[in-house]
Amino acid sequence: MMTITDIRGHALSGTNRDAALAYSDAVRQFSMFSGDPVSAADRLIEAQPGFVMAHALKAWLYLLGGAPAAIPVARAAILAGESVPATTQERGHLAALGHLAAGRWHEASRVIEDVAIEHPRDLLALIAGHQLDYFTGNARLLKERIARALPNWSQDTPGRHAILAMHAFGLEENALYDQAERQGRAALAIEAGDGWARHAVAHVLEMQGRHDEGITFMREDLPSWTTDSFLAVHNWWHLALYHLELGQIDEVLALVDGPIMGGATPQIMDLIDASAMLWRLHLRGIDVGPRWHRLADSYKAGWSAGGYAFTDFHAVMAFVGAGRREMIEQTIEAQGIALLAAGDNADFTREVGYPLMRALKAFGDGHYGETVRLIRPIRSLAARFGGSNAQRDIIDLTLIEAAFRSGERSLAKALAAERVMAKHDSPLAKLFARRAGLQGCAGTSCTCPQCAAGIAA
Ligand SMILES: [Fe+2]
Repeated sequence: MMTITDIRGHALSGTNRDAALAYSDAVRQFSMFSGDPVSAADRLIEAQPGFVMAHALKAWLYLLGGAPAAIPVARAAILAGESVPATTQERGHLAALGHLAAGRWHEASRVIEDVAIEHPRDLLALIAGHQLDYFTGNARLLKERIARALPNWSQDTPGRHAILAMHAFGLEENALYDQAERQGRAALAIEAGDGWARHAVAHVLEMQGRHDEGITFMREDLPSWTTDSFLAVHNWWHLALYHLELGQIDEVLALVDGPIMGGATPQIMDLIDASAMLWRLHLRGIDVGPRWHRLADSYKAGWSAGGYAFTDFHAVMAFVGAGRREMIEQTIEAQGIALLAAGDNADFTREVGYPLMRALKAFGDGHYGETVRLIRPIRSLAARFGGSNAQRDIIDLTLIEAAFRSGERSLAKALAAERVMAKHDSPLAKLFARRAGLQGCAGTSCTCPQCAAGIAA
């Protein structure tokens, strides 16, 4: 009997040629954050109940999507995949998924890493591993997992743009901005609709403080990253970040009320983006009014505390902003249970999420010194609970604002100096510098070390 394979030559169990092509297309959609790969996986399973990788794809999509109701659906898909004959590669996917469904994020990452080491053109294994690296804040593997596979992806390998896009994001999270931008733009040259490639370049422009350029980059080609993309809200959020940095608050609020919070059925990652933007506005003293209540209600409807510390952290922003003390208390209680539960989230919560949640609560209560005291010890290890450098910048922004408000002038001055060094031309950094009384970049005769060294004009 002829072996059925995907478009990169990996044997697929329990399927036929047409379904194999449809599966490869669903993985392509996942790699670009476009279309509806969940529905595609469901259709494949309905037509071919023994199609192992269709079950695996469904389980990855549900588990990486982060919705509380995802785990039982994913477990059923894993069980279905395990009940039929499978190759070693396919069993590797199912084993990694089993770990993830049980909350063993790091073990899932290691198992799927081994699958991709054996099969470096297994795009689904690379995507899933890359997302796990993001969720566990593993900057090194975000780059290396993809870098080691790259030599196996020739110019002609279908889906090469996705590998370049992931490599770009990994490079960016390791502050290798020039290489990251090259890879990201190379991916977009192959496939302009690759949402992850767009996102990687957006991160580079954010981290390098190239905000005007970022606005042009995002706005010049809106259809390619907003049409049929389930990363669109997050990419809109990146556009709003540029406007915020430039102090263009009306633009930010228009994006918040439009694509960021205007959707009828927000996903968990959309809620995170909404929290992250409203909290940044809140830190700048901007009253966002009833938006906090709408967001808190959305969390109440579609999220449960204690599953993933990074999401809990963002949910608490909404509860503090809306003054929902009972929801803050419920989250504290759920995190107390999460601390004792099996799985890696107990560590994410204990090491980072729980102190950060208390820091937000203290900020909301006006106890700014307490916010400073809680954030400082964990600031350098916050990556352990996941997210990107740009997302975790909200921790630094909260710290610096709390330092100003608590009257800790020396600390505020030190933190402002850090930002000026990292983002020399950033209006926000200059605002902090002026508030802190720093000489130099905030004025006309800049004497900061960067300017003195001729690094920046
Ligand atoms: Fe991002």
